[in-house]
Amino acid sequence: MTDSQPTVAFIGAGNMAGSIFGGLVANGYNAQRIIASDPKPDALAKLQASLNIRTTTDNREALAAADIVVLAVKPQVMKAVCCDLAPHLKPGTLVISIAAGISAASLHTWLGGNQDLALVRCMPNTPSLVQAGASGLFATPSVSDKQKQQAESIMAAVGSVCWVNNEEDIHAVTAVSGSGPAYFFLMIEAMTDAGVAQGLNKDTAARLALDTAYGAAKLAVNSDVDVVELRRRVTSPNGTTAEAIASFENNNYRVIVANAMQACADRSRQLAEQLAD
Ligand SMILES: NC(=O)c1ccc[n+]([C@@H]2O[C@H](COP(=O)([O-])OP(=O)(O)OC[C@H]3O[C@@H](n4cnc5c(N)ncnc54)[C@H](OP(=O)(O)O)[C@@H]3O)[C@@H](O)[C@H]2O)c1
Repeated sequence: MTDSQPTVAFIGAGNMAGSIFGGLVANGYNAQRIIASDPKPDALAKLQASLNIRTTTDNREALAAADIVVLAVKPQVMKAVCCDLAPHLKPGTLVISIAAGISAASLHTWLGGNQDLALVRCMPNTPSLVQAGASGLFATPSVSDKQKQQAESIMAAVGSVCWVNNEEDIHAVTAVSGSGPAYFFLMIEAMTDAGVAQGLNKDTAARLALDTAYGAAKLAVNSDVDVVELRRRVTSPNGTTAEAIASFENNNYRVIVANAMQACADRSRQLAEQLAD
């Protein structure tokens, strides 16, 4: 990345924002072109010392210096934060919201209702905290190709990025990647418990289950064949894995997963309605 980088202001410097600007700095982004705004001066002082980024407790000051604003406060305070910033938003500023469940329409209204407002909604996930996230992005029509590229390279600092063309698809993104880490944590938990039930001690079962999940994901990410083929390769006919897979299939594992993800997307729609203005 070069010194012609845009200045990015983060409104809210908590976990998710910290992982994004931490990732940007680690990737060589000019730290002086990152401003974090948050009510906690102590936390900001630590960020300034560790990352050399600029900090402020004044959201408007951060906005004034920014080409791109990342809204990274909790959904419950988003309306108040946006309404406060709205009169100070400069034309041409790209706004990226990482808040779960807040629609582009609500953000647009709260940010002053300007037709030309360039707004990107992003649904990140918690592995972003270790730069292994998967984010879904949606751009409103006023976002230029250059701004899309800018939004993508910011979120790419913490993992992979996929665009969706319809905002409605953000609910499906929530069901796949937003909530997805918890499904894998549940699987690790269940495998650990089953290993203990078969006689392993808890630490051994937990270590084996966790490292197997990590190894399987790493193998899949680095492989040139898809997960269906990888599964086929560990499933010898009449072997041990074949018995396990048959048990999963006979117990409707795919239906269980599909139902869980449908419940997730339905809840995401419900929460979005509650948070809408
Ligand atoms: N964590 C996730 O896995 C995840 C996944 C997807 C999306 N998100 C979204 O990411 C956003 C941030 O989540 P998070 O987990 O990073 O939360 P967080 O750690 O609580 O960070 C939010 C930060 O904003 C600060 N803040 C509160 N009011 C503010 C204001 N008026 N102006 C500026 N800053 C203010 C908070 O300070 P105080 O602590 O003093 O209130 C806190 O430091 C949320 O909208 C969430 O929906 C998170």
